[in-house]
Amino acid sequence: MSQTLIRGRILTFNAEPQGPDDATAYSYLEDGGLLVEGGLIQAVGDFADLAAQAPAAKIDDQRPHLILPGFIDTHLHFPQVQVIASWGAQLLDWLNTYTFPEETRFVSAEHAAAMASAFFDELTRHGTTTAVAYCSVHAASAEAFFAEAQRRSMRMIGGKVLMDRNAPDGLRDTPQTGYDDSKALIERWHGTDRLLYAISPRFAITSTPEQLEAAGALVAEHPSCYMQTHLSENLAEIDYTAELYPQARDYLDIYQGFGLLSDKALLGHAIHLKPREIDALVEFDARPVFCPTSNLFLGSGLFDHQGLQARGLTNAIATDIGGGTSYSMLQTLNEGYKVLQLRRQRLHPLAAFYWITRGNAKALGLADKIGSLDAGMEADFVVLDASATPAMALRSARAQSLSEELFILQIMGDDRAVKQTYIAGAPQK
Ligand code: GUN
Ligand code: ZN
Repeated sequence: MSQTLIRGRILTFNAEPQGPDDATAYSYLEDGGLLVEGGLIQAVGDFADLAAQAPAAKIDDQRPHLILPGFIDTHLHFPQVQVIASWGAQLLDWLNTYTFPEETRFVSAEHAAAMASAFFDELTRHGTTTAVAYCSVHAASAEAFFAEAQRRSMRMIGGKVLMDRNAPDGLRDTPQTGYDDSKALIERWHGTDRLLYAISPRFAITSTPEQLEAAGALVAEHPSCYMQTHLSENLAEIDYTAELYPQARDYLDIYQGFGLLSDKALLGHAIHLKPREIDALVEFDARPVFCPTSNLFLGSGLFDHQGLQARGLTNAIATDIGGGTSYSMLQTLNEGYKVLQLRRQRLHPLAAFYWITRGNAKALGLADKIGSLDAGMEADFVVLDASATPAMALRSARAQSLSEELFILQIMGDDRAVKQTYIAGAPQK
C-alpha cells in the first residue's frame, strides 16, 4: 500500500485548553508531516524526519496552510438540506410549516439518494468529516444516508427518526414499525465499515409513550448504539410536552423514565433546563448539544456552556442543519462565540478548535479513533487558510500568534477557508 506524506503546519489537541496560555493542551508543528497509509495516520512529526524515514512516500505539500483534524458535527438533519433559511417561525411552527412537509419527500428512495449525495458533498466542502444525523421517518432515507457514507469511506453516525404522532400523514411510523425498521437498520449498518447507528426518537411531542417504550427497548438491546433526541429547546415546546406527559417531573424525566439516558445519549439544544434536569444529566453523564446558529435563527435561547461544564458535563457542539443556518463548524463557532458573549462567557479560539475536533470526538466516545492527529488515528483532516478571502487576508496581515490566526478562522471563516478535506487519507477536492 502506498504512503503519502502531507506537509504543512499541523495543529492537534491533547486535552481541552484551560485558557489562552495553556500550551500543554495542544501540539503544533511549524513544518510538520502526517504520514498516511491505508486510511490511518502512521506517524506525525517534523517533516524532515518523516521524509527521511519514508523516502518513497508521495509528498503532498499544503504549506503555508494549517492542518487540523476533520471537524465533527454532532447534530444535524439530513432531510433538511432544502429547509435551511425558511422564514419567520419559531420551533413548532417552523416544524409544521416547513420541515415536516419537506421530510415527507424522503419516502422516495431516489430523492433520498440524490439528497444524500448533496449532503455529503456539503459536509466535505465545509471540512466536516464525521457527523451525527437524523434521517427522516422512512427507513429508505437511512439506507440512502448509510450507503452514500459507506461509498465515501466516511465515519458517520445516523438513524431513522421515530415519530408516531403530531406529524402529517406520510411522516408517522408506529411503535412496532419504528422498532422493526430501527432494528433492521442497526443490524445492517451499526459497526459496518466506519458507520454507527443512533436510535432517534425525534422528541417527546412526536412520540407516544408506547413508542418511547419501544425506543427504550432498542437502547437496552443495543447499548453500543447512540441515542439522540431533542430537549428543552423552546418554551412553547416545553409547555406542550408537559401537557402530553403530565406525570413526568420535567421534560428530561420523560426520556429518563423510558431508559433512554446514558453517556451515549445526545440531547440537542438543552437550553431551558431545570436544576433537577441538570442533576439527572450529570447522573447519567448524558451529552448536551449546543446548536448556536439554530438557537439564534429559531429564537430558542442561550445555551449555558460554562454552567453545564462546571457540573462536569461534556457538552458537544453542532450545526443543527436545517434549523441551523450553516454547514460550517467555523460559522457555528462564530455564532457560538456570540451566544456565549450574551451569557458573559468567553470562548477562546484554542478551546473552540478543541471543541469541534477532539472535544466532539470525546463527547461521542470516539477520541481513540477521530478528532486528533496522532499515530494510529483515522486519517480525517482539513487544510485551513486564514487568508482565504480579501477581508480575511487583510485581517491576517496583522495576526501575530497562532491563537489570533485561529480566531480569524473562527469568526470570519467558512467553506472558503477550507482548502482541502481528507477522508481516510484521501483528498476530496
Ligand atoms: N425538535 C424536534 N425536531 C426538530 C428539528 O428537526 N429541528 C430542531 N431544531 N428541533 C427539533
Ligand atoms: Zn435538531
